[in-house]
Amino acid sequence: MLCFLFIFSAIFSYVICQRLPSPRYLQASALVDARFYFFGGYTSINSSFTNEVWYLDAYDITTTSWHKDADMPVGYVLGSACVSPIDNSTVLLMGGKMNISIDHFNSSEINIFNSNNSQWTTPKVGLSNIASARIDISAVSNNDGKIFVLGGISPDTKAWYDDMIIFDFTVMAWSKVSRLNGLKYADYTATLLPTGLIIYIGGRYYGRNILAKMANILIFDTKSLSWSNKIASGVSIGSRVGHSAVLTLNGSIIIYGGTSDDSNLGPQVLPDIAVLDVNSWAWSNPKISQTNAPPSLTFHSAALYGNYMIITFGNYIIKN
Ligand SMILES: *[C@@H]1O[C@H](CO)[C@@H](O)[C@H](O)[C@H]1NC(C)=O
Ligand SMILES: *[C@@H]1O[C@H](CO)[C@@H](O)[C@H](O)[C@H]1NC(C)=O
Ligand SMILES: *[C@@H]1O[C@H](CO)[C@@H](O)[C@H](O)[C@H]1NC(C)=O
Ligand SMILES: *[C@@H]1O[C@H](CO)[C@@H](O)[C@H](O)[C@H]1NC(C)=O
Ligand SMILES: *[C@@H]1O[C@H](CO)[C@@H](O)[C@H](O)[C@H]1NC(C)=O
Ligand SMILES: *[C@@H]1O[C@H](CO)[C@@H](O)[C@H](O)[C@H]1NC(C)=O
Repeated sequence: MLCFLFIFSAIFSYVICQRLPSPRYLQASALVDARFYFFGGYTSINSSFTNEVWYLDAYDITTTSWHKDADMPVGYVLGSACVSPIDNSTVLLMGGKMNISIDHFNSSEINIFNSNNSQWTTPKVGLSNIASARIDISAVSNNDGKIFVLGGISPDTKAWYDDMIIFDFTVMAWSKVSRLNGLKYADYTATLLPTGLIIYIGGRYYGRNILAKMANILIFDTKSLSWSNKIASGVSIGSRVGHSAVLTLNGSIIIYGGTSDDSNLGPQVLPDIAVLDVNSWAWSNPKISQTNAPPSLTFHSAALYGNYMIITFGNYIIKN
């Protein structure tokens, strides 16, 4: 526990303690205005669930502070969080695995968090057949209030999916876009561009550790509901899972961390940090000062706030 001592006068002194979260990985995260929220996660390599919710207040980047919010109803991992563009304050947790008995992994239920008042709701939505529960996904929401979830793996049967399921938050209903001849795909990152294209990077295909080539970029057009592929040029980037991706203001995607093995602990893949320019579709590996650089991480969280890419939690990787 980190404590700050404020001495207001010779007579009174107050100790204000800022609680810090314990280490964790595989949490879901979402940036709501200047608050970077974290939901659940595993707090040890023995898969101990946490149901904690924390946020990092990044409003003043030089004095970021941790705040504990209302716990989730149950422990939660391996899902993905999106902020509703309708109100910019509702967080929707898509998929994931809950700390309930194996027969009841109904994680196609959507857990909704109102960041204004820290209230949770789990609305009943017509889902079962379309939106079977899935983990190892990355969900993105577009400006119409639609949330796009590609592929993933069933937390109970371990079946892999190749479809795109779409949740419309404005009418609280699911729909689905099939992917003909699509590979079953999980553990990618998904980044929505202002043009409405979702850029899928890295991850793995059905069959243990068949990693996607980083030069093969899968694209989904949220306007025409159609798929395409791009072959990216530039430097060679190691295939990975457990990485993070953020979109910069000038239209580049920065990826960080990850590993070539889904066991979460490594080995490290190089480079740690890489930039995909989505105008020229070229990868680069910028030379960045190692001063204050984070360690190599997997299954961490990242968000872009202004000019800052904020990286939190995750597993330290075992170096090659
Ligand atoms: C994980 O489990 C193993 C075997 O049960 C135990 O030896 C180890 O201490 C546990 N580690 C943690 C971090 O709980
Ligand atoms: C997870 O479930 C176990 C068994 O039901 C329970 O003991 C534990 O408190 C739960 N943890 C959380 C964070 O919900
Ligand atoms: C949260 O508060 C803001 C500002 O008052 C409001 O615009 C927004 O709709 C609220 N969100 C929810 C989910 O109640
Ligand atoms: C939500 O945030 C976006 C981006 O900052 C903004 O364009 C939009 O007007 C906001 N919507 C609401 C309802 O506040
Ligand atoms: C999960 O779904 C099953 C079958 O549809 C149902 O019987 C069960 O009550 C559900 N569990 C929860 C926790 O909602
Ligand atoms: C975006 O900014 C980064 C960092 O300043 C730079 O490396 C990159 O070339 C820029 N991309 C574009 C498309 O301007």
